[in-house]
Amino acid sequence: MTSRRSKKITVVGAGKYGSTTAQRLAAMDIADEVVMTDIVDGLPQGLALDMNQSRPVERYRTRVIGSNGFEETAGSDVGIITAGLARKPGMSRMDLLAVNAKIVRQVTRELVDRSPDVTIIVVTNPLDQMTVLAAEVSGLPRHRVMGQAGVLDSSRFAHFIAERLEVDILSVEALTLGSHGATMVPVPSQCFVDGRPLLGMLAPDEIDALVERTRGGGAEIVAYLKTGSAFYAPSSAAAIMARAILTDEGRVTPVCAWLTGEYGLTDIYLGVPARLGAAGVEEVVELDLTSTERAGLHAAAAAVRDKVEEMETILRA
Ligand code: LAC
Repeated sequence: MTSRRSKKITVVGAGKYGSTTAQRLAAMDIADEVVMTDIVDGLPQGLALDMNQSRPVERYRTRVIGSNGFEETAGSDVGIITAGLARKPGMSRMDLLAVNAKIVRQVTRELVDRSPDVTIIVVTNPLDQMTVLAAEVSGLPRHRVMGQAGVLDSSRFAHFIAERLEVDILSVEALTLGSHGATMVPVPSQCFVDGRPLLGMLAPDEIDALVERTRGGGAEIVAYLKTGSAFYAPSSAAAIMARAILTDEGRVTPVCAWLTGEYGLTDIYLGVPARLGAAGVEEVVELDLTSTERAGLHAAAAAVRDKVEEMETILRA
């Protein structure tokens, strides 16, 4: 080991999403420690012990530490907030607003109290509102608080495109912006297969069908699972964002980021392409969107604002 400063990531919540994220990050071998904290007695400790025992087989060194408190999280570089309830069949992400707002408010305080230099990635739903809340409660600069949605939604969109066209999944580039919900904005004009525009490959109504399936991509999985929501693709998304920050990658990826005039929107968190590096969101990238796509972003912004107001009323009560 060199004398470099040790690197630590905290994952708040050891449910399926949190624990899978912790495991993926550990296997990336980019941090010294991944701390997983959860209120359920024994759960984070048992999962951490199990994960650590896969290290000799998988050949990585990162240790996972399971805890029921926040003491072990002190000095984290990146914190991923997964704590809260997941949807049950028939629920929208918005049905979780009141219960998850109280949880996210509390765990954000606990995290930032011990890690004043942390960069936060929120994944708890409803995503856009929970990201606003974590930013407000943390008192951190807005570029150090972001939400995960666009990596996941874009990945789902890419999967559906690849299946529909029967092409190699790795040949597809897809993009979704906007909210992580009903006002998600899939962006067909920025989707490509082997570098060729998707718009030339499928009729508009066929693209619309893929867009609709993407918008309902989380609910489709909840309906199958019945007792929880998706976690394999969501944890991949959260983990690559954490890696981009921890290793100062400079990768551009869709992120729920704070806007200060980009796309004509100000003082709002919304899914946009952004460059992720050591400073968190280092730049919001402005793409040349069609007028329909741009209008979709503005509609998403209005919907997010409405629900933020509702959340603030709930939290004041
Ligand atoms: C989903 C949840 C994690 O989209 O928001 O599956």
